[in-house]
Amino acid sequence: SRNLLLLLLLLLLLLLCPNGTRQRLPQTIIIGVRKGGTRALIEMLSLHGDVVAARNEVHFFDWESNFERGLSWYVSQMPLSLPGQLTVEKTPAYFTCSQVPQRLHRMDPNVKLLLILRDPTERVLSDYTQVFYNRLQKHKQYHPIESVLLKDGEMNLDYKALNRSLYYLHMQNWLQYFPLGHIHIVDGDRLIEDPFPEMKKVEKFLGLSPQINASNFYFNKTKGFYCLRDHGRERCLHSSKGRAHPEVSRPLLDQLYSFFHEPNRKFFQLVGRTFNWNDTTRFQKYHQ
Ligand SMILES: *[C@@H]1O[C@H](CO)[C@@H](O)[C@H](O)[C@H]1NC(C)=O
Ligand SMILES: *[C@@H]1O[C@H](CO)[C@@H](O)[C@H](O)[C@H]1NC(C)=O
Ligand SMILES: *[C@@H]1O[C@H](CO)[C@@H](O)[C@H](O)[C@H]1NC(C)=O
Ligand SMILES: *[C@@H]1O[C@H](CO)[C@@H](O)[C@H](O)[C@H]1NC(C)=O
Repeated sequence: SRNLLLLLLLLLLLLLCPNGTRQRLPQTIIIGVRKGGTRALIEMLSLHGDVVAARNEVHFFDWESNFERGLSWYVSQMPLSLPGQLTVEKTPAYFTCSQVPQRLHRMDPNVKLLLILRDPTERVLSDYTQVFYNRLQKHKQYHPIESVLLKDGEMNLDYKALNRSLYYLHMQNWLQYFPLGHIHIVDGDRLIEDPFPEMKKVEKFLGLSPQINASNFYFNKTKGFYCLRDHGRERCLHSSKGRAHPEVSRPLLDQLYSFFHEPNRKFFQLVGRTFNWNDTTRFQKYHQ
């Protein structure tokens, strides 16, 4: 039948594949953070001809049921690559999962890590929004944002999404296994506002030839953000921008920003770099 013929053709193609085309362990991993812009980052990185990316989030190091399957399973989740090409996967949950750094270090102490971060207040709201919409769509009950963020008027540290935005906590864990030089931090807020300079830095960190250029990005005025142009093909990334955030009162917003002030300072100290994470005007710009 036709299907059989197609299958045979596919097998033939596989046999004729140039020497060295196979699946490889990733040499680069995007470790997070959830709602930080990991999808945009991997799509933009894939503009580079020497990069091949796993299609899905693999969840190897953070899900026990996957980890137990061993490295051969992990490799089997990777795309085919040529020698010299870089294999990359992204699983945003890695950054905040405490077992991951040690496990990853055991696999490859020289792996290059990419971490994309954004303003922790915006991140926690975005994290809440995603869960909120999922529940709304399933007609399930959801908790108003005040009731999850606050407990007796104080920030509720039991709320996992809040914990995920305490970047210094998680970073301390990673730095026990990897030197800072192995972890490149992408400024997620800048990547959205002006992707090209951030992507040049990523290219350099990964030791890739300079291929990504300014004309790979163009600003779509209707959408209000950048889209990608790849060999004439244009595509815009999915964005939750159109999705309104649930109402957050001004006092709660101020409380969030001041809550993160100290954790952010600790993070800046840890990585020897500062980020513009207390710009409340940016929040207004995105959520008017
Ligand atoms: C926040 O997360 C870290 C790392 O997973 C964990 O060690 C810590 O106990 C958490 N804090 C709270 C209050 O849940
Ligand atoms: C930018 O890269 C694209 C391929 O991604 C190429 O077609 C184009 O010529 C490049 N432009 C410049 C100015 O190098
Ligand atoms: C810009 O965004 C609008 C709205 O989503 C879309 O309809 C249009 O196709 C986009 N244009 C380009 C050139 O990407
Ligand atoms: C943000 O924090 C930095 C240092 O902590 C401070 O110098 C700056 O004035 C703050 N900016 C705003 C808009 O609050």
